[in-house]
Amino acid sequence: MKLINIAAEALHEAIPELSLAQVISLLEKPKHDQHGDLAFPCFGLAKQKRKAPQLIANELAETLKSPLIEKTEAVGPYVNFFFKKDTIQQIVVQRILQEQNEYGSLEIGKGEKVVLDLSSPNIAKPFSMGHLRSTVIGNSIANILEKCGYQTVRINYLGDWGTQFGKLIAAYLKWGEEEKVRSNPIPELLKLYVKFHDEASDDQTLNEEGRYWFKKLEDANEQALSLWKWFREESLKEFDKIYKLLDVQFDSTNGEAFYNDKMKAVVSLLEEKGLLVESDGATVVKLEETPSLPPCLIKKSDGATLYATRDLAAALYRKQVYDFSKALYIVGQEQSIHFQQVKAVLKKAGFTWAEEMHHVPFGLLLKDGKKMSTRKGKVVLLEEVITEAIQLAEENIQSKNPDLPDKGEVAHQVGVGAIIFHDLKNHRVNSVEFSLEDMLKFEGETGPYVQYTYARANSILKKGKWTAGEIKKGIKDSYSWELTKLLHEFPVMIEKACAEFDPSVLAKHIVDTCQSFNSWYGQVKFLTEDDEKTARLSLVAATAITIKESLRLLGIQAPEEM
Ligand code: ARG
Repeated sequence: MKLINIAAEALHEAIPELSLAQVISLLEKPKHDQHGDLAFPCFGLAKQKRKAPQLIANELAETLKSPLIEKTEAVGPYVNFFFKKDTIQQIVVQRILQEQNEYGSLEIGKGEKVVLDLSSPNIAKPFSMGHLRSTVIGNSIANILEKCGYQTVRINYLGDWGTQFGKLIAAYLKWGEEEKVRSNPIPELLKLYVKFHDEASDDQTLNEEGRYWFKKLEDANEQALSLWKWFREESLKEFDKIYKLLDVQFDSTNGEAFYNDKMKAVVSLLEEKGLLVESDGATVVKLEETPSLPPCLIKKSDGATLYATRDLAAALYRKQVYDFSKALYIVGQEQSIHFQQVKAVLKKAGFTWAEEMHHVPFGLLLKDGKKMSTRKGKVVLLEEVITEAIQLAEENIQSKNPDLPDKGEVAHQVGVGAIIFHDLKNHRVNSVEFSLEDMLKFEGETGPYVQYTYARANSILKKGKWTAGEIKKGIKDSYSWELTKLLHEFPVMIEKACAEFDPSVLAKHIVDTCQSFNSWYGQVKFLTEDDEKTARLSLVAATAITIKESLRLLGIQAPEEM
């Protein structure tokens, strides 16, 4: 139960003319601790009861009772509530110790399936910072959904089809060298692609050639197909290195190419429904119901299908195969029109389930305020960035704790955790400034800070030789009470993060929890042998469980020692 309900129920009983919801909306958090945990203002009741608010507050303070309320006090027109801190603390801590990493699990999604379209990099191109964001945000949302009882399907919808591959094949056949591509696939393929674009601006016949080769690819020409397969495999090898570093797995890697043979069916379906219209030689679905939406392009004048056509086919296929109750697309906000179009076309075709398709957008990853795509004219290779983060983490650990066993493994967890946390700590639609130095700090709102707090809690438990057992006496200090309230809120935060597809809710909450824990740590001697010691250490253990689970939901590991 939420703490606010304890006060609200007592109030509702005393003033039945106010509903529980009304009481809850009136309750305030006092600015100063000495005014208790919650305050109820009586101004609104004055008219109704024909009494001064001060008087009402006095009367209420006399009558309100609850087993979890220590006392109520009237101060002017307010009734202040003081909870039975030690009893509530015991209840919260016992529950966490009992439920362990199941603490905060919910059943709201029971029996429902959610498919998530995430990561989805484009083959023959470097894994971009945008794809990194999609990967970590999507993975965390999937973890949170699972925590809430949903079944999830993580789909990596690879960008492995489209006219650009016709261009790439043409470029390779003109200028490519097999050896070079084999030894350094992605940068070499990118070079070929860029060269093609540069030359094509002066030479129109090149674009013709690109189209010619894409047509061959669509028609399953052997030469075209084998080159495409090779480029795809080399790309996947590179992408897999990144997924391994990030520890992210997928249930399906069916990309755009997978839908090549399912495109005719989509086009005929739209045809049957009478939705297809000719426009400048191309085939489109008009979406004039929504004036802000341009027509959705289904087929180009040369008959080639488009990104939207493939997304339509994918949505239909996923509905059929997975029978999802929600489909999420974790894709940058610059594609917002595209997803609105796809959804609108499906709705126009009569598929009411399209209402449950949600684009979950996010902002850019910036470097010095600029979109991050090149550095010194070179492509930023994500793998190098991650490796650099791990190296820096190792240097930090080396200077803080040179005797730590498993330094390499811990550095990996800290370096990667730093990148993920940095991405998730602000609401996803905000742009993120990518600074390795900032994200690797052990203080402030960083991954390493949270991980370090977890390791600190563990080391206290080890030194105190704590084992789970009966908590004889509660703790009275206000620091531990603040911490208890935060731990108690964890399940509410999970529910919120799930409803809003927003991992930052959890990231912020866990930073608050760590800060609260560390303030307490600064004030109290945990290991003193007094009658509060078991209660203290049990609260430390409950904190450790909550931090670890929160990090897991964000997709971050928690080293036991740091
Ligand atoms: N490959 C695309 C890109 O890099 C992202 C795909 C997003 N998912 C989708 N179903 N369209 O822009």
